[in-house]
Amino acid sequence: MKEKINQYLAEIEKFTANTAEELEQFRIRYSGKKGILNELFADFRLVAAEERREMGVLLNDLKGKVQQRIESLREGLAGEETAAASSHDLTLPVNFMDAGSQHPLMIVRNRIIDIFSRIGFTVAEGPEIEDDWHTFSALNFAPEHPARDMQDTFFISENPDVVLRTHTSSVQVRVMETTKPPIRMTFPGRVYRNEAISARAHCFFHQVEGLYVDKNVSFADLRQTLLYFAKEMFSPDTRIRLRPSYFPFTEPSAEMDISCNLCGGKGCGFCKYTGWVEILGCGMVHPNVLKNCGIDPGVYSGFAFGIGIERITNLVFNVKDLRMFSENDVRFLQQFESAWQQ
Ligand code: PHE
Repeated sequence: MKEKINQYLAEIEKFTANTAEELEQFRIRYSGKKGILNELFADFRLVAAEERREMGVLLNDLKGKVQQRIESLREGLAGEETAAASSHDLTLPVNFMDAGSQHPLMIVRNRIIDIFSRIGFTVAEGPEIEDDWHTFSALNFAPEHPARDMQDTFFISENPDVVLRTHTSSVQVRVMETTKPPIRMTFPGRVYRNEAISARAHCFFHQVEGLYVDKNVSFADLRQTLLYFAKEMFSPDTRIRLRPSYFPFTEPSAEMDISCNLCGGKGCGFCKYTGWVEILGCGMVHPNVLKNCGIDPGVYSGFAFGIGIERITNLVFNVKDLRMFSENDVRFLQQFESAWQQ
């Protein structure tokens, strides 16, 4: 019996189970009803009195070893199973990283900047939280002039000198105050106006401002620059039309229309059957503005324009509701990057 027990002990120590099934077979072999342990305990009754003590210890030891082995093998198998399920199942589908895409307004903004950079315009930016001087006063808005209401400004009650800029024209002032002509730059950015939100208006939107100041800059330069822009932005057969307008900081001032790029100028619902779509405001920099910024209007002249990025984006991508640009719906946002490649 002693010999048998030692044989079993050796077997138990060597035994490993690769599957739960193998382990169960092992358990039945030793601890099952008709298993080895029961068999040995049955034989134990026949053991001679003087050997009983020693045999009893050996038997109990064997029983303990069987129990330990089963438990440790069971733990090992359980650990492997979870590991396999969580990270080693090569048949599981891959979790793709969502790389995102450029916002349609940024795609168009970059395109506008790029078109002007090809004719020598560099880029500058200014703050969105501005003061009265850069937003209005330096731009020739008279102190109580109703033109200040024209842009539905967000003021704060504690300090009327602090405003959210209503246009990127404030950057014109910041640049002219610190840069000597020639100046040839674009200023992209977000602007704010207190407007009721609808499909066609929002309390914030985006502009790209353009400024060109040098000796002998004329209205013809303005017109030709904007014609170049319209053809590059839309199509080579795009026509432009300048209508007289008013801005305190330009004189003369104009509003620029392009021939409707949806109907080619024939007239459609989008252009309200006029064949023309308004896309920007522009004009010759007012001599008072040059003076306010320390530039001699007797020596220098310049032109400026302000393009609404949302307007252009609507035209290029045929987006009908402005609110979609700020709703963060990825189904909307991810359509544009590839559409632009056409
Ligand atoms: N700042 C004007 C606006 O927001 C646009 C503009 C810019 C007009 C530059 C003339 C020159 O409406």
